[in-house]
Amino acid sequence: MPENVKRGSFGSKFGVIAATAGSAVGLGNIWRFPYIAGENGGGAFLLLYLGFIILIGLPVMLSELTIGRSTQRNPFGAFRLLRPGQKWFWIGVMGIAAAFMINAFYSVVAGWTLEYLFKAITNQFTGESPESIISQFNDFQNSNWRPLFWTVLFLCISGSVVWAGIEKGIEKYTKILMPVLIVLIVILDIRAITLPGAAEGLRFLFEPDFSKIKASTVLEALGQAFFSLSIGMGTLITYGSYIKKNENLGMSTAAVAIIDTLIAIMAGVAIFPAVFAFGISPASGPDLVFLTLPNIFAQMKGGYIFALFFFTLLTVAALTSTISILEVVVAYFTEELHITRGRATLLASLGIGFLGILSSLSLYHIPELSIVGRNLFGILEFISSNVLLPLGGLLIVIFVAWLFGKTKLKGELSSNGLFKASYFPIFLFIVRYVAPLAIALVLMNSVGLIKF
Ligand code: PHE
Repeated sequence: MPENVKRGSFGSKFGVIAATAGSAVGLGNIWRFPYIAGENGGGAFLLLYLGFIILIGLPVMLSELTIGRSTQRNPFGAFRLLRPGQKWFWIGVMGIAAAFMINAFYSVVAGWTLEYLFKAITNQFTGESPESIISQFNDFQNSNWRPLFWTVLFLCISGSVVWAGIEKGIEKYTKILMPVLIVLIVILDIRAITLPGAAEGLRFLFEPDFSKIKASTVLEALGQAFFSLSIGMGTLITYGSYIKKNENLGMSTAAVAIIDTLIAIMAGVAIFPAVFAFGISPASGPDLVFLTLPNIFAQMKGGYIFALFFFTLLTVAALTSTISILEVVVAYFTEELHITRGRATLLASLGIGFLGILSSLSLYHIPELSIVGRNLFGILEFISSNVLLPLGGLLIVIFVAWLFGKTKLKGELSSNGLFKASYFPIFLFIVRYVAPLAIALVLMNSVGLIKF
């Protein structure tokens, strides 16, 4: 990075946690977790997912923040600085590819969220039957222009925030809105667990049925852990580079992982009772949240206001995640290719928009946009979450464990002795052996190289 590029930084400890949690908490928790859990049998999936968060997610997260903060660079530049002339910068390249793919399908679903915000404002849920809620979703998807319109609008909004820069954009919003989102989900949970038939939904989510675990379930759980924590593609290397030297990385990591996981589980607690109460299939796929939650709003006192708040906050949560993904691309464009921030944002958004529109069309309008039985939307989702992120995570932990340097690592985690970092020996053991082995085994098992 040339000296003349001025880097922003997060203003406070709470700001670091809020911004990082803002990246982690998003559609991944409220849209993707319930639908993937629903497709993969519920309880057993949840257990695997939690295991991966602890054994793999936490160490990868901490490794990324360490690399970012110690180098003060974007992922690509960070590896070039740490290992000049070697191929490690490919982690950065993979991350940028993943960023494009994720933001493409993410903006599509964020677009659906905007449509549902619009529906909430115009009071389209109150008193509606489950059938009419389903047909509302289908009518929306069958429209030629509505899904595309909202996707493009969402991209414009996220582009403007990234354009405005780090301190002014990201930190300010997340600090206020994250806590409100949590309160709202708690209220939804209370309504959901008092629905008739709620127990069946809770059993689905919390009672593991191990006969439902297949090789694909294990990979999906790993991919979801990476996706939800925003790890494996350099988002947290980029965010780490904005963290001040005297912040406690271990604490921030733990706080963010706990918040992220709780919100995913709480989203499940709102959704699965509704799935069973309203006769919707838990394996409804990406549509699941949009078919279930409006039913709760339709039947609850003050549903109008709750729906309004909920979809507003979901939009904001999606926004704080997308901007963290976009930031990876923009930091690379500005710092490595010396393109201005405005141009970089525009270029990235155009590319993502193009891919996003195609993936949206592949769902309902142009099913030909598919390979081996998966539509483009599903392909982008699968390759990014289940292949690129775990692969990136694998390389990142290997790098931190074996090449970064033990003393430097300890210094970074303890802020040079300012904090104790008493977890260091466990962390080192996990990044050296447990995490890389676990990721490698899951990946090899999924491509059929080994069989459990
Ligand atoms: N973690 C975000 C979410 O759950 C999505 C995301 C993935 C963000 C990868 C950054 C990087 O919505």
